[in-house]
Amino acid sequence: MRAIVVDETTQDLRLEDVPTPTPSSGEVLVRVAAAGINRADLLQRRGLYPPPPGVSTVLGMEVSGTIEALGPAVSGWRPGDEVCALIAGGGYAQYAVVPATQLLPVPDGVSIVDSAALPEVACTVWSNIEMEARLQPGETLLVHGGGSGIGTHAIQVAKALGATVAVTVGSEAKAARCRKLGADIVINYREQDFAAQLAGRVDVILDIMGAKYLSGNVSALAIGGRLVIIGMQGGTEGTLNIGALIGKRCKVIGTNVRNRPLTGPGSKAQIVTAVRNRVWPLIAEGLVQPVISARLPLAEAAQGQDLLNSADSVGKVLLLPEAP
Ligand SMILES: NC(=O)c1ccc[n+]([C@@H]2O[C@H](COP(=O)([O-])OP(=O)(O)OC[C@H]3O[C@@H](n4cnc5c(N)ncnc54)[C@H](OP(=O)(O)O)[C@@H]3O)[C@@H](O)[C@H]2O)c1
Repeated sequence: MRAIVVDETTQDLRLEDVPTPTPSSGEVLVRVAAAGINRADLLQRRGLYPPPPGVSTVLGMEVSGTIEALGPAVSGWRPGDEVCALIAGGGYAQYAVVPATQLLPVPDGVSIVDSAALPEVACTVWSNIEMEARLQPGETLLVHGGGSGIGTHAIQVAKALGATVAVTVGSEAKAARCRKLGADIVINYREQDFAAQLAGRVDVILDIMGAKYLSGNVSALAIGGRLVIIGMQGGTEGTLNIGALIGKRCKVIGTNVRNRPLTGPGSKAQIVTAVRNRVWPLIAEGLVQPVISARLPLAEAAQGQDLLNSADSVGKVLLLPEAP
């Protein structure tokens, strides 16, 4: 099959022939219609975010497509089923192996290609704002990077849950898109200080900046607030005002999806099941839609990553192995 391979010396991305993977017990082989690009792929390309042991070294943490073959001990799925899936690696390819517990049906009202934009954001957002932070109707959620893949999905889900949503963005174009998606408060972080604007008013924060925003995030939290940190775009080591944390009875939580166990408590299987039960109906109702910045041929993986890394992209960039 054709897959994108990273040149270890130059870090260039090249389309090459590689062996087609074989599904092991509990896995299926998916013929890929589209693969989502995630910011973590850019780190993995630079050697900074290796896949978990035993997982394909090919980039790509989510795909959509058609089940081509079942490995041993898989039930509930058949060859020909149209699916999208969370994977720990191997997505930038014509075929990918997927643990059957991480398969989702293509949601009603979404094309098979566009459904590749959903698994990673849906699993990350739901596991954090609902399963970790227990966001309640009427509470206020602050999402940093409202125009990101994660942010555009989080705005829609939180609005569907009945929350007030604040976001930070770096441009007027992204501000306008976030308002259209339902954001109530939009703060351009290049012009305004979110901590001063929101001081003491935020119940849950979904943070991608880490160290740089730690102190501002704690200032923004209301009594009983929950700060969930899922990214470290602003560094890994910050200063935590413990007095403020104790005084406001707040929680600081760090999580990731990729390195969780496949099954059991706190597993990816649990998250995928919750997403299917709770988020897929919101998509079927039209309350949540995939937000897609571009659909590119697989051979243009490098251009796709550049686009995601630019200020121009809102939502997800997809790679299509079968594009002409
Ligand atoms: N822990 C996990 O399980 C997990 C899972 C998925 C994703 N993540 C993390 O979540 C983040 C988003 O992922 P993604 O794939 O959705 O990325 P993405 O689409 O590439 O978005 C990154 C965003 O960061 C924003 N940003 C940059 N500087 C900022 C600042 N100072 N303040 C606020 N926003 C800023 C950019 O917005 P502007 O252009 O407006 O600046 C951009 O929208 C990444 O850090 C990723 O590693 C974590």
